[in-house]
Amino acid sequence: MNYLVTGCSRGVGLEICRVLLSEGNMVYGVARSYTDEFKKLESEYSGYLYFKSIDLSDCENIHKNVFKEYVTNKIQLDGYVNNAAMAYDDIVTNLNIDKLKAMYNVNVFTPMMITKYVLRNMLLSKKKGSIIHISSISAHTGYKGLAMYASSKGALEAFSKDTAREWGQLGIRSNVVVPGFMETAMSASLTEDQKDRIYKRTSLKTATCVKSVAETVAFLLSDKACSITGQNVHVDNGTI
Ligand SMILES: NC(=O)c1ccc[n+]([C@@H]2O[C@H](COP(=O)([O-])OP(=O)(O)OC[C@H]3O[C@@H](n4cnc5c(N)ncnc54)[C@H](OP(=O)(O)O)[C@@H]3O)[C@@H](O)[C@H]2O)c1
Repeated sequence: MNYLVTGCSRGVGLEICRVLLSEGNMVYGVARSYTDEFKKLESEYSGYLYFKSIDLSDCENIHKNVFKEYVTNKIQLDGYVNNAAMAYDDIVTNLNIDKLKAMYNVNVFTPMMITKYVLRNMLLSKKKGSIIHISSISAHTGYKGLAMYASSKGALEAFSKDTAREWGQLGIRSNVVVPGFMETAMSASLTEDQKDRIYKRTSLKTATCVKSVAETVAFLLSDKACSITGQNVHVDNGTI
């Protein structure tokens, strides 16, 4: 199977690549930085893992950068994982429109444009593909300082549900994985006290396991999940 995974350079995206590769798939990764961690995985799975450095904030040039110069229609896509994202954290009274737009470019507009071309690729090759968006528990429970970030994830959830409705007749599925708090670069600026307060809101009282998120993504991409579409699947340690 051929999969396009964004945000592959570290954290959840790198783990998704690792799980998909371990199942014998081909993975086309996108991020800005070509990290040592990614290179290590690339050497373990030579010929199965590819990388192109693309700044996904440039939503105007997505077709050229991703599809004309990298994942062309010669590559028949079976799935797309929209994992790359950035967090703009602040309280609403400090909202800055330029920062909000910059985050929406990466978290919402680019994934929507990529979905457009992924669907076209799948339609051309008559593939019953699967699309996964990575959301966040903050869109469901609410956290102080995350209103802008959470709103970008809420937009993706609505987009996914309606994509599922629009293309289900052709066998194309779209689902969302909703992770809880994970220990990655994105959450590295939180203090131990802030993390403890977040963990207290979960049933399992700990950070969400990155591998569990990646395994869920791989399951939803696979035929094992052939009857699952338009869903939000929470992998969040039972966050209340
Ligand atoms: N960490 C958490 O607690 C948490 C909780 C819930 C949901 N999530 C979601 O889980 C997903 C993965 O997050 P993570 O924790 O693994 O974060 P991370 O470690 O910060 O990784 C983010 C990935 O996105 C890529 N990226 C960011 N901006 C980009 C841009 N402009 N162009 C291209 N690539 C870009 C980064 O690559 P480069 O920097 O190399 O470009 C990196 O590979 C995200 O959708 C996030 O919103 C995270």
